[in-house]
Amino acid sequence: MLSASPSSWLDAVPLTTRRLVLRQPTFADVPRLALYAGDFDVARMLVAVPHPYAEAHASAFIGDVLASNATGDSLALVVARLKEPHALVGLVSVTREGRGATMGWWFGRPYWGRGFATEAVGGMTGLAFRHPGIDSLAAGAFADNPASLRVQEKAGFVRTGESLRQSAARGGKVTQIDMILTRDAYAALSAQPRSAKGRA
Ligand SMILES: CC(C)(COP(=O)(O)OP(=O)(O)OC[C@H]1O[C@@H](n2cnc3c(N)ncnc32)[C@H](O)[C@@H]1OP(=O)(O)O)[C@@H](O)C(=O)NCCC(=O)NCCS
Repeated sequence: MLSASPSSWLDAVPLTTRRLVLRQPTFADVPRLALYAGDFDVARMLVAVPHPYAEAHASAFIGDVLASNATGDSLALVVARLKEPHALVGLVSVTREGRGATMGWWFGRPYWGRGFATEAVGGMTGLAFRHPGIDSLAAGAFADNPASLRVQEKAGFVRTGESLRQSAARGGKVTQIDMILTRDAYAALSAQPRSAKGRA
């Protein structure tokens, strides 16, 4: 359990969970980032990732992330397994907007179905709420992405409505289910015994 508030999200990085490490990206992540984000079945569930996605996109993305992570208002971290910390398996991000923040994530297809998103999102929500200026976290998923909606439900997010969002890879607008996790809901969930979490 994380305790005192850091002066910046970055102070808590690398963040470890049971099986994973959430760490700063490096340019050595470019090949695996391009490989997994270049999978249309990953990109089509995301707003901003174009398809096809080349190593040049991945390299530019990492340069942008290293700059924006340093501002303290956003944090995008590579997810890797503790047993192989240099090998990117996914990405998770949180971006401040006023007193809220927006979260996003994706995992490479070989790593789906192992509970990694649940574990990484759990770690990142805990980190996000260490920031005293954050009252709520927004997420959501396209309506045809029940796996991500399930990850959010397990993390305590609840549905607030629907919106239309552009998907770069699909080249059009897609219905998104909007979800939110308030600080109060997060605190209540964190106070539950482990065995009661994730039931819905
Ligand atoms: C969505 C995604 C992040 C899930 O990652 P993951 O590591 O496989 O997720 P987890 O294993 O932690 O949990 C997935 C949950 O969804 C459930 N699930 C999977 N497919 C499902 C489906 N078609 N319908 C309903 N539930 C489904 C799983 O059973 C699991 O729930 P459970 O633990 O209650 O059994 C991953 O598939 C991904 O990166 N997809 C492409 C990009 C993306 O969608 N990013 C999120 C954008 S909002």
